[in-house]
Amino acid sequence: MAPTGFEPSGPLRGRLRPPPDKSISHRAALLAAMAEGTTRIEGYLAAGDTRATLAAVGELGAAVTELGVGEGGLELEIRGAGPRGPGDTASGSEQRIDVANAGTPLRLLPGWLAGQGTGRWVLDGDESIRRRPVDRVAEPLTRMGAAVSCRQGRLPPLAVEGAELHGISYELPVASAQVKSCVLLAGLLAEGETEVVERVPTRDHTERMLAAAGVPVEITEGTRGRGATPRRIAVRGGERLDPGTISVPGDFSAGAFHLAAALLVPGSEVVIEGVGLNPTRVGLLGILRRMGAAVEVESEEGGAGGEPRGALVARHGGLRSTRVGAQEVAVAIDELPLVGLIGCFAEGETVVAGAGELRHKETDRIAGIVEGLRGLGAEIEERPDGFAVRGHNGLRGGSLDARGDHRMAMLGAVAGLASRDGVEVAGMDAAAVSYPGFEANLAALTRP
Ligand code: S3P
Repeated sequence: MAPTGFEPSGPLRGRLRPPPDKSISHRAALLAAMAEGTTRIEGYLAAGDTRATLAAVGELGAAVTELGVGEGGLELEIRGAGPRGPGDTASGSEQRIDVANAGTPLRLLPGWLAGQGTGRWVLDGDESIRRRPVDRVAEPLTRMGAAVSCRQGRLPPLAVEGAELHGISYELPVASAQVKSCVLLAGLLAEGETEVVERVPTRDHTERMLAAAGVPVEITEGTRGRGATPRRIAVRGGERLDPGTISVPGDFSAGAFHLAAALLVPGSEVVIEGVGLNPTRVGLLGILRRMGAAVEVESEEGGAGGEPRGALVARHGGLRSTRVGAQEVAVAIDELPLVGLIGCFAEGETVVAGAGELRHKETDRIAGIVEGLRGLGAEIEERPDGFAVRGHNGLRGGSLDARGDHRMAMLGAVAGLASRDGVEVAGMDAAAVSYPGFEANLAALTRP
């Protein structure tokens, strides 16, 4: 496929509704599948990753009905397989589940399957999925009593044998919402209490959705500073799950690309509407405020399922550098490539540290950010756990290879709009994994 060109742009203006949140969509399909009754999902993300989750829960016994396409996504009804559904229907042979390019079902589904008491499943996906570590979920599930194995002890395919699980207290060795969620889902099927302890808070969509579905979730918030205490989340096995209706807010991580474009292209002013504003997802806003960016929350409301949503306004303006450390990484993890790009336009040296996890995303995103932006003229240095970028005079432009990574493709597009000579992105089609309408939405904002 020929590369896609993104020319230097005039001001971006107008209002934009990002696609439904990918993380929340995956979880909505999973909890609906685990429930006994029927769940309605309003605004489910219609993209490659989340379609893979729908197919997977269908294979596991949930009945998915597409009622239509609303303004903000798919309207779905899912009749659950029930908490023990996959085990009830498991025959002697193993069942293979294809998660395509999606890391979230790869890490969350094993939590459900491990608690089945019977059955064997093998989770696999595309070439990029085969490079993503799954020992991080195998380890706690094994401690809970499941038989889990993976290639070279670390990588997919991941085989899970259902067992009778017992609750554990598990301190996350890596700050990962996917691992936390996997253990909590397994905890719903385990005997006694299961507790997850996180030293660094990660996105809490699973906890919020479980609580909204009537599951008692005991949360002890952590403290920071001297004598810091971790955050603790506990569930008990055997609780009834009744999600009812789940309404999915817009995806902050998707809207962040347009927001960044507005900050970087002179004369721009963009409003991002209906976007999720969960504090454990919007770490980028704090980083941008330190950089002096003109970003404001225009309105905010509670929202169903405990997920706040609202509108953000972003305007072009001068920017200064900042430092992003380990405490902030998890709540801005998917936006760190944008911090690299924005750093190219900020006065001084912008440093991201404590972000080694970026090497385990759809691609090694530290290498991708550094090589990608350097190819466009950035003065950027690679570090084992992040990068340092010296902002001077924006970006020249050139070509960037997305390497099959949706966020790197969208990064290249925004870089093109803000660059002096434009950017050719190889592999722009990767954006459809999370945001099929990305180019059209960007074009609508740049139309004079
Ligand atoms: C996600 C959590 C993050 C994030 C990913 C989605 C989730 O991954 O990078 O895009 O849905 O929980 P980790 O939990 O591995 O950090």
